[in-house]
Amino acid sequence: MTEIRELLLRRIRDVADYPEPGVMFKDITPLLADPAAFTALTDALAEIAERTGATKVVGLEARGFILGAPVAVRAGLGFIPVRKAGKLPGATLAQAYDLEYGSAEIEVHAEDLTAGDRVLIVDDVLATGGTAEASVQLIRRAGAEVAGLAVLMELGFLSGRVRLEPSLNGAPLEAL
Ligand code: PRP
Repeated sequence: MTEIRELLLRRIRDVADYPEPGVMFKDITPLLADPAAFTALTDALAEIAERTGATKVVGLEARGFILGAPVAVRAGLGFIPVRKAGKLPGATLAQAYDLEYGSAEIEVHAEDLTAGDRVLIVDDVLATGGTAEASVQLIRRAGAEVAGLAVLMELGFLSGRVRLEPSLNGAPLEAL
């Protein structure tokens, strides 16, 4: 295991039975509170942004905002928030996706992404891949290209990667 992986893993706290019984929640607040770990994470994600030729960083609400914004600054790129429905004041594009029970919707300001943009999507966790897949669809519908998806953690047992890979069209999915 590389040094950075060890550093990041040491700062992710497992919280049993949160937010409901049977779920092991991965709490990243200890990592955010540790400047060495947060800086190492930001640097690693910014390196992915540079390597993939991204021109913009999209962060997924809410923890994707915390991780994605410093990556955008570090890489010298603009940051675009993808928000849960009803939070953005301007003209939006919306994308619905299925949850285990029911559905959810995410939105982006239509004017924030245009043809020619190459977007790195940043989030904390890839679980079922539903949120990330809907984001990929949003970005494409805006006319932009997906440069890649970068997450801190991938919960492999939920098979998000298997679900996502067909829609990524060869763009890298990197889990630190
Ligand atoms: C979590 C996580 C990812 C998403 C992953 O966010 O931060 O965005 O779920 O799940 P998926 O791969 O199954 O779609 P959550 O919806 O809990 O929102 P929050 O960050 O605003 O709490």
